[in-house]
Amino acid sequence: MAKSDWTCSLSAICEWESPDYEPSLPVSEKSNPLTRDIDRASANSIVKMLQACDAQMFQEETGSTYHKLLSDQVVTTLMEVAKRVELVLKDPEDSLVILSGCGTSGRLAFLITSGFNRALRQLNQSPVYSYIIAGGDRALLSSQEAPEDDPKLGMLSLKKVCEGKKRVLFIGISCGLSAPFVAGQLDFCLQHPEVYTPVLVGFNPAHQARDEPLPGCTFTFLSVVQRMQELAKSHQAFLINPAVGPEAISGSSRMKGGSATKILLEVVLSAAHAAAFSHTPVACNGILLHLRAYEKTLDLTYAQSEIITDLVEAAGESLRCGRRVCYLGWGSLALLGLIDASECNPTFGADFEDVRGFVSGGYRELNNKEGPLTALGPEFCIAHEDFLHQVLPRLTDKDTVLLIYTHSDDVGKVVDLARRVREKTANLHAVYHQTDEDTSAALQQDEISRLCLSTLKIAWLQGASVSASLLHMQWELSTKLVLNAVSTGAHVLKGKIYQNHMIDVQVTNSKLYRRATRLLQKLSGRPESQCEEALLKTIYGANKLTLDMTTSDVITHTCTAVTRTKFSGSKSFRPMCPRDVLDVPMATTQINGQPNGPIAA
Ligand code: F6P
Repeated sequence: MAKSDWTCSLSAICEWESPDYEPSLPVSEKSNPLTRDIDRASANSIVKMLQACDAQMFQEETGSTYHKLLSDQVVTTLMEVAKRVELVLKDPEDSLVILSGCGTSGRLAFLITSGFNRALRQLNQSPVYSYIIAGGDRALLSSQEAPEDDPKLGMLSLKKVCEGKKRVLFIGISCGLSAPFVAGQLDFCLQHPEVYTPVLVGFNPAHQARDEPLPGCTFTFLSVVQRMQELAKSHQAFLINPAVGPEAISGSSRMKGGSATKILLEVVLSAAHAAAFSHTPVACNGILLHLRAYEKTLDLTYAQSEIITDLVEAAGESLRCGRRVCYLGWGSLALLGLIDASECNPTFGADFEDVRGFVSGGYRELNNKEGPLTALGPEFCIAHEDFLHQVLPRLTDKDTVLLIYTHSDDVGKVVDLARRVREKTANLHAVYHQTDEDTSAALQQDEISRLCLSTLKIAWLQGASVSASLLHMQWELSTKLVLNAVSTGAHVLKGKIYQNHMIDVQVTNSKLYRRATRLLQKLSGRPESQCEEALLKTIYGANKLTLDMTTSDVITHTCTAVTRTKFSGSKSFRPMCPRDVLDVPMATTQINGQPNGPIAA
């Protein structure tokens, strides 16, 4: 970033920490001052804004009210939780470590538990990790927002996974400290301390946890957090909740929230594995070194911002002309492609065909609890063979294809697939990780580079201090950052974001309902009651609301919103914009030749 850009954004970097900045909102819902104008930015500026937002994850604590990723308090809790995991690893009989969450948080629970169970199998140990995702395995690949609102479902799914277990370390992930599904699970753990030790991971200070009544419950997310805070004093519960700053796209916790979840949980589980199997006791220094390695991952990744910009431009162009972006991946990096693609529907109102991920080996590689889900529909066809049959025949130069792999994958297979794709489109790109010393696949890599329009190659140092598993986790994070930038940037260029707000979303759960009401207020300046009324009119498709509609609860509203479909002829959900629902006169303007969303006239 140019020096002048830095100087003008330095105040913006910390602006969100001021008590006067959007005081009614928790950090995870605030709008990031760094991205206020992302909707009118060039691809190059979008990538720089995302870089600056991601860098906020590692911002030092400034004595403000917020604990950060590297604060002593956070590092100490990471160590305590790692020691609890170590105990389970050393005595796994009748024990489990469960990671659970909704949407991206559940997908990352799956990714992390898969990776660490694989590590255990390699050590001839039995797996101790299990995941829960609200909505079941179909939510790994598609948006299932409604189950997030169900605390009882959360509790029941936890009970089911833990049947017969005598000791369970439960790690609930809710970036916004808000998901009722997770609150129900934590409450259950608190009621059964003889078996369960609850850990909460999120990115708001405790007092900003959601305080909305939950249907059929005597607790709220906030009251659960307060009970956990009390127990944390005697190490019977743990809260890992550093602030990482507002998301680049307001509330889009798939981005920093997801990255920070991955970072924190991998740090904890890696420290536990080292203590249990490599005689390296859990220590502050090791935790800090691991955190710093992730900080370097950000630097190394964004050092390639020119090529990331090329990818954003290519993907943006594809989406703008109604074509598609495909991620063809190998190993766990492919899973990050599947995850990134699955998030485009709830974030940008995208069709599942707009951005799609495919994994070499399909469900065999995924190894999810419920097995192959292909019977659920084309959206769930995820193998490279599915790509070859369903997508390849219709590819043109207007579609963008990304190959995502590392030097430890079967690079010969990457060449084969690259050749086949190249016959249909020249718009082929590679995202590739290798260690600085590795030259084994140099010839094949040269061939891939010849076939591709651009190659984002990241070379990593593999010194004695960097284990193969750490390196792999860095590749994953790096890939996540690149893909998040590509899909976010491309949708911004398509006009799917207004300022830095999602405006093309279905209001399919209570969090999204509240967020939509607030957005209407912000953009229209009208009172909350009027905005909620306008939102309800849209949800029910009514010009006048009946008593039934106004007296129903939020769950009923969101269940109705789920049934609202796209406008015919349009590939996207109809953008929910203030003009639609409030009758506020709006004008659509074009800045830099690009649609700039609705502007109040
Ligand atoms: O319901 C929408 C959503 O924002 C998802 O996109 C997100 O991944 C999920 O909720 C989980 O949010 P949290 O981690 O804050 O519970």
